[in-house]
Amino acid sequence: MRQYRLIFIVYFPNLNTMSKRKILVTSALPYANGPIHLGHLVEYIQTDIWTRFQKQRDNQCYYVCADDAHGTPIMLRADSEGISPEELIAGVEKEHRADFDEFSVEFDNYHSTHSEENKEFSNLIYQRLKTAGHISSRTITQAFDPEKKMFLSDRFIKGECPKCGAKDQYGDGCEKCSSTYAPADLKNAVSAISGAKPVEKESEHYFFDLANFTEMLRNWTTDGHLQSEVSNKLAEWLDGGLKQWDISRDAPYFGFEIPDAPNKYFYVWLDAPIGYMASFKNLCDKQGLSFDEFWAKDSDAELYHFIGKDIIYFHALFWPAMLQGSDFRTPSAIFAHGFLTVNGEKMSKSRGTFIKARTYLDHLNPEYLRYYFAAKLSNGLDDIDLNFEDFTQRINSDLVGKVVNIASRCSGFIKKRFDNTLAINCSEPELFKTFIEANESIAKLYENREFSKAMREIMALADKANQYIDDKKPWLIAKEEGKEAELHEVCSMGINLFRVLILYLKPVIPKLASEAENFLNIESQAWAEGIEPLTNHTINKFKPLITRIDADKIEAILEASKENLEKVKQPKAKQFEPIADEIEFNDFAKIDLRIARIIKAEHVEGADKLLQLTVDIGDEKLNVFAGIKSAYTPEDLEGKLTVVVANLKSRKMRFGISEGMVLAAGAGGKDLWILSPDEGAVAGMRVK
Ligand code: MSP
Ligand code: ZN
Repeated sequence: MRQYRLIFIVYFPNLNTMSKRKILVTSALPYANGPIHLGHLVEYIQTDIWTRFQKQRDNQCYYVCADDAHGTPIMLRADSEGISPEELIAGVEKEHRADFDEFSVEFDNYHSTHSEENKEFSNLIYQRLKTAGHISSRTITQAFDPEKKMFLSDRFIKGECPKCGAKDQYGDGCEKCSSTYAPADLKNAVSAISGAKPVEKESEHYFFDLANFTEMLRNWTTDGHLQSEVSNKLAEWLDGGLKQWDISRDAPYFGFEIPDAPNKYFYVWLDAPIGYMASFKNLCDKQGLSFDEFWAKDSDAELYHFIGKDIIYFHALFWPAMLQGSDFRTPSAIFAHGFLTVNGEKMSKSRGTFIKARTYLDHLNPEYLRYYFAAKLSNGLDDIDLNFEDFTQRINSDLVGKVVNIASRCSGFIKKRFDNTLAINCSEPELFKTFIEANESIAKLYENREFSKAMREIMALADKANQYIDDKKPWLIAKEEGKEAELHEVCSMGINLFRVLILYLKPVIPKLASEAENFLNIESQAWAEGIEPLTNHTINKFKPLITRIDADKIEAILEASKENLEKVKQPKAKQFEPIADEIEFNDFAKIDLRIARIIKAEHVEGADKLLQLTVDIGDEKLNVFAGIKSAYTPEDLEGKLTVVVANLKSRKMRFGISEGMVLAAGAGGKDLWILSPDEGAVAGMRVK
């Protein structure tokens, strides 16, 4: 039996196709609640370059992704837009797809985590984990918004920092002083959703017992599946002890209901990575591929996840443990990358450096950015900086000045003097050979995601090609008599070198490469092993393949990004009313504004908007009904200073006589603030 198998393998007729690697690649699934921005694109472009390279090498490689469609922020955004979450995610998915498409990020499949396949796999994995004893449940106490009737995660609780007193800080940490704390420590905590004061409430939650996988993860995280920096970081986490992972959320939630647990939903991060499987399953069903070949425990396919450094915990701890515990294969490797900064700083809305993919596309060629990212990317976790000066210079000097320039320097003579046909001989076989031989080291760099080094090596070849042309000086040869053959050979050589450069750059700039292939009149190029120079071959007319970057375009992107974001930052703008008709100064002077101290504040029976205030304006007390109940309780107000119109004619209202008007600002509802002067003011003071 054994001998038979051995013979079978050794003499297998199609060894070549057997050695083709089977590779499944993913990028992290972008959230379906916002647009793709240039930071995201670092990842999708990095992954796309890598998968294009694998395909060009004739490996069987699939690149799948999906929108990450579940979770509270998506539910709330749909709510605030007055549409269903399904409508929201359908619209966003369309935009995401269009953005990726225009940046030539070519997925073999793009799906959604809100899909049948994902629901099935989530249930299956959960059931298997449960059966194997890795799921437990217990009751926990959590902040609850009594108005919205929903539990609040830390990021939906706001209040004053217990350390430095900064206002409007979130439940998990202070942006001002960087201290971290529990949401219960916040002073004057309110729900960031409704503004209501949260109460504590109990609820049963389901947990994944990650600690059961401590040994497995200790091995897995040090076994060549991770970059060394990542592996070291995980060792710290493992040493700290693994906690149970809370995988359930209470209704209302946009996600999948947990089987046998009504009103409990899987936490978005449980079904998100399962979305990788679901998207691939969807592809298998469309193309008749075998799902098990890639995901079964004994799969010999390679599985890689490209991710940003912020989501390592989920991918390098939870995910392998979930897969192991539910009898699937674990990833071959996780490739984490750093974050994008723009002009040296974190992307910022106010500086206009938070740039959407769409804004970039409105102004510049996407292949510039693909090349620039390639020129900056390594296989490490360092952040990468998009510096616009450097960007402009890099594109203009490398792509335009070095690469495309070779073709434009040579194609003119080939057209004018040789009827667009290349010479019969390759005049410099050695030089051509050097270019071809470089394929091995360039391939190694691509394979190891050392894209910046690959670009450097390719540009060094481009320098060589330009040097060759500079040395031969075809523009001088062209003027000499009887040197036709030499001119023909030199220019043909230039074109042949250009062709090899394009072949190497193809994973990075696929559109330009395809246009160059049209110009060269050749088929789509596979990898370079064993290719011969083009001789006695007719090419097409040269058209400029790429233009220099114009500084104005970059200004326009930054400008547009500022505008975009100011609009986004003022969701309440529509609530500002137009300025009222002009009044005379005399009209204004008639208003007697006074500082008042609120000495008493009470609810008004039967009124749902009003509070009854007694205010002291120095030598007089006024009774005022104010429509501020949506924003204040009586206790909030007693003792506070405010500004009132003191000489307003008394008005009889349903609940009594109102003798003045309290000044308040805001859109209404919770967003209403009575004008409250600082300490130092005294009741009765005139406000001018
Ligand atoms: N939905 C989760 C991922 C689930 S994967 C099972 C998520 N979404 S995200 O939209 O916030 O980010 C998607 C990917 O883009 C992540 O890998 C993230 O690290 C990456 N990036 C988001 N902003 C980035 C930068 N500014 N720079 C580089 N990558 C960035 O996380
Ligand atoms: Zn603080």
